[in-house]
Amino acid sequence: MITKEKLLEAAGHIRDAEYNASLAELQFIRDIMIKEDRVSATVILSKEDESYKASLEKAVTEAFAKAGAGNVHLRFRAATEYDRTEANKKQQEKAEEPAEAAVNILDPQHGVTFLAIASGKGGVGKSTVTVNLAVALARLGKKVGIIDADIYGFSVPDMMGIEDRPQMVGNKIIPIERFGVKVISMGFFVEDNAPIIWRGPMLGKMLRNFFGEVAWGELDYMLLDLPPGTGDVALDVHQMIPQSKEIIVTTPHATAAFVAARAGAMAVHTNHEIVGIVENMSYYQCGACGEKDYVFGRGGGAKLAEELHTKLLAQLPLGAPDNHIAEPDYSPSVYKEETEAGQIYLNVAKSIIQA
Ligand SMILES: Nc1ncnc2c1ncn2[C@@H]1O[C@H](COP(=O)(O)OP(=O)(O)O)[C@@H](O)[C@H]1O
Ligand SMILES: [Mg+2]
Repeated sequence: MITKEKLLEAAGHIRDAEYNASLAELQFIRDIMIKEDRVSATVILSKEDESYKASLEKAVTEAFAKAGAGNVHLRFRAATEYDRTEANKKQQEKAEEPAEAAVNILDPQHGVTFLAIASGKGGVGKSTVTVNLAVALARLGKKVGIIDADIYGFSVPDMMGIEDRPQMVGNKIIPIERFGVKVISMGFFVEDNAPIIWRGPMLGKMLRNFFGEVAWGELDYMLLDLPPGTGDVALDVHQMIPQSKEIIVTTPHATAAFVAARAGAMAVHTNHEIVGIVENMSYYQCGACGEKDYVFGRGGGAKLAEELHTKLLAQLPLGAPDNHIAEPDYSPSVYKEETEAGQIYLNVAKSIIQA
């Protein structure tokens, strides 16, 4: 039997464009009437925008269908001042409520799987892999967060095309959500790309804040873009998340893999399980003839996997995403789902979910 509760639960993932909450939490799905398998309801729009309305219509209709509705009729109306005041209150309550959970996000009982993305050196594509793996996990329906823990070399916001800055609600920072991934980065708190000159203790404090002072809500996966190499900061981060698993990124070149092995040794030293190796910039595929050219050499990833007794999860081709600045979801480093790289990342995400 269809019930109001089941309908709202099925629609629970549908988020409002303006408020950091779901339509159901905001009570933006109202006047639900059920007659056999026919369901009608009113949806409140916080934003007057035809494409937003259309996307909600599709999402709510699909969700209701999943809950058993055969025939869905939706009415839409713009949020009134009163609706907005109430929604603000709900958003505030929500930000305060997961405070407990957020403080304990490191607590294993929350069931968040931590995946730290490490590399022996910079420039091998660690951040690119972090961002695309996170987006792939979200595309598979997982709740995903990214902590850009590369405090000095943060790049995740730019890579994902994030221009907003996080808001404080109550005493919590609300992470920015992009492509279904919640993101927090040092880059959000730095004025005009100024260099960061903080030292050890401040760094540790900053990172702890990223775990504790951010309203992450419920998460399945938390990806950490680690600082490159095996220096103090990297070691700090490793030690802060004892239960983390690791993915090590390398290029196919033999020396890169050799340097990456040190990051692997660090993972072993801190008792982090290595989930596998991602070999990035593995080959260049000729657009005209389809032939693969191994411009940076071959075999680095496989050799590293063997050395660290782990799997080679993927080999990614050279090539920046073919995104365009004019697109509304422009992001310089996120591959679209249907591209070759997009599909490879989806496969890595699937194997991580299975493992
Ligand atoms: N497969 C790839 N093909 C082309 N460019 C890439 C690829 N992976 C990464 N890049 C580019 O290489 C540079 C370094 O990548 P990045 O992810 O920032 O590395 P890291 O985080 O290890 O320093 C960036 O400009 C990024 O856009
Ligand atoms: Mg980086």
